[in-house]
Amino acid sequence: MRVLLTGAGGQLGLSIQDRVPKNWQLSALTSADLDITDPVQIDHVFKTFKPEIVINAAAFTAVDKAEEDEITARSVNALAVKNLAIKCEKTKAFLIHISTDYVFDGRSIMPYRETDILNPISIYGKTKAEGEQAIIRSGVSYAIIRTSWVFSEYGNNFFKTMMRLGKDRESLDIVDDQIGAPTYAGDIADAIIAIARDKNKIKCEIFHYCGDQITTWADFAKYIFTHAFEAEKINHTVVINGISTEQFAAAAPRPKNSVLDCEKIKNSCAIKLSDWQNAVKIIINNHMGK
Ligand SMILES: NC(=O)c1ccc[n+]([C@@H]2O[C@H](COP(=O)([O-])OP(=O)(O)OC[C@H]3O[C@@H](n4cnc5c(N)ncnc54)[C@H](OP(=O)(O)O)[C@@H]3O)[C@@H](O)[C@H]2O)c1
Repeated sequence: MRVLLTGAGGQLGLSIQDRVPKNWQLSALTSADLDITDPVQIDHVFKTFKPEIVINAAAFTAVDKAEEDEITARSVNALAVKNLAIKCEKTKAFLIHISTDYVFDGRSIMPYRETDILNPISIYGKTKAEGEQAIIRSGVSYAIIRTSWVFSEYGNNFFKTMMRLGKDRESLDIVDDQIGAPTYAGDIADAIIAIARDKNKIKCEIFHYCGDQITTWADFAKYIFTHAFEAEKINHTVVINGISTEQFAAAAPRPKNSVLDCEKIKNSCAIKLSDWQNAVKIIINNHMGK
């Protein structure tokens, strides 16, 4: 099975590479190897490697920066995705694309289902929604996996920011009025691999995939610090002061509710949701220095 992985240097890209099945011939390309916004580079890779599956883990993920650089965000998250989908359709490659809960406005009191109406409130969310729509319109066979609050031992994410700040701070102000279900990138990688295996049964589907427990950013931080302290990776406790989204004042608006309803992926693909609490303990024990 020839599998092309874009965005291979990101946290999800690296997590997929840690788990490559034996029957995959993987071409894992970072942004330096393959810029997905360049149609000439895309053509070349399709011509030479002839992928049967394309996993698009490349994205412009800087949510706040996207507010001031809409052009780049759209070119990576929407226009490049459209070109990739058309290319996959022409060559009959199956496209697995990663999307986000930010395509929703977060105003629902219920976990979001795959069929809920898109209403992004940020530029990042808008461009990711445009990418999804382009895939659906292209006629390609696809699986779009929407996930949320991704963390891992790699790259930049909330977990790693907490571990860095917690080393020298005794208290932190963390947002406590947004809810979500953190998702370990390693578990998303496993879900992607399972979907790739079942690609002939899937055709055109959107799936939601996130953690198995709902929390707030503040409680997520408390969980991280409790275990980092127990594992002696930090030598003091960190007090978390809950603050509002407005007090935090990020450039881009965030959904108040990022929780995804994952019944579909659980029931139709027998994929377990992300046990993020266990993942936090494992990363702290195995990947974090003192
Ligand atoms: N992180 C989250 O909390 C979260 C939540 C929901 C959904 N997602 C989605 O999950 C997917 C994976 O995200 P992630 O967390 O792994 O993000 P990440 O760590 O930021 O990785 C994204 C990768 O895409 C690469 N990239 C950017 N522009 C590119 C281009 N023009 N051509 C090729 N590669 C390019 C980046 O390379 P450079 O670093 O060299 O630019 C980076 O390696 C994305 O689709 C994202 O939207 C993420």
